[in-house]
Amino acid sequence: MSSLTEIARTLVSNKRGILAADESIGTMSKRLESVGVEPTEENRRLYRELLLTTPELSESISGAILADETFRQVLSDGTTFPAALAGIGVLAGIKVDTGAKPLAGAPGETVTEGLDGLRERLDEYVAMGASFTKWRAVYSIGDGLPTDRTKRANAHALARYAGLCQEAGLVPIVEPEVVMDGDHSLEQCRQVTRAVLQSVFEELSLMEVQLDGIVLKPNMVVAGDGCPDKPTASEVARATVETLSETVPPAVPGIAFLSGGQDPQEATDNLAAMKELAPLPWELTYSFGRALVGPALETWRGSGDQWGAAQDALSERAVANAAVR
Ligand code: 13P
Repeated sequence: MSSLTEIARTLVSNKRGILAADESIGTMSKRLESVGVEPTEENRRLYRELLLTTPELSESISGAILADETFRQVLSDGTTFPAALAGIGVLAGIKVDTGAKPLAGAPGETVTEGLDGLRERLDEYVAMGASFTKWRAVYSIGDGLPTDRTKRANAHALARYAGLCQEAGLVPIVEPEVVMDGDHSLEQCRQVTRAVLQSVFEELSLMEVQLDGIVLKPNMVVAGDGCPDKPTASEVARATVETLSETVPPAVPGIAFLSGGQDPQEATDNLAAMKELAPLPWELTYSFGRALVGPALETWRGSGDQWGAAQDALSERAVANAAVR
């Protein structure tokens, strides 16, 4: 079995990125309905089969994050999803949190749950072929938000999750996401992202999480989707890299960004602009969900005839992101 550091490095190196296909049953069902596909277990399975059997996927994708439901399903030929990924040289990851739930005493804010029984669930995922995991904490920007209470609660949970994963030999993807919803400025996002990352690395250190055996999955520093003042790619890149430089220790091997609802090409352009700011102490890559798979889902719309065209749409995004220097 590879060491935590080797797995983490494999996930973020050689210009490959991580495909996030781990939408919960509820979220995936809504996405299917949005393109006119009935949200059944079989259609969720079929859609994931479409994504993960895309030709040459492993040239641009190092790992794929799946949901619990998919991890237990099989492809049309009977192969389990983790085995199919292993067969093409893509590491299998599993989302292990159980979702963001309202935090007591913090109206409008959430804490991500899933620590109870996690050690036992991780053992099961290891036996099923997982190499890495994901846990997402969510922070909104608003009047007085996020509160210190939310930052502390989520950082604590992320650090306890990361420790348990490393104990099981799994690389934790640590995902603190400051969401784009709202009319906040780039500068507000920068300040909040900095404070969030500071709190996360404080807790990771307290829990003695091995930093060279994690992957950080943060938001890019962008303006809110309702902000009239839209920053350029180079402004986003500068603000993001400065914020990360202030908060992320160089021992972390790599940072794989989420796309957070950005237009797919915009996410790619922002990543490209960040790469221009090299040399940096960590690898920078992508772990997009919507910015990788959105065009494929729109193309497929449940039609067997569109299967190949939908895979081409995913390939196009994956190759475009892998090509940025
Ligand atoms: P998006 O890139 O669509 O934000 O998804 C990434 C992810 O994994 C969210 O948890």
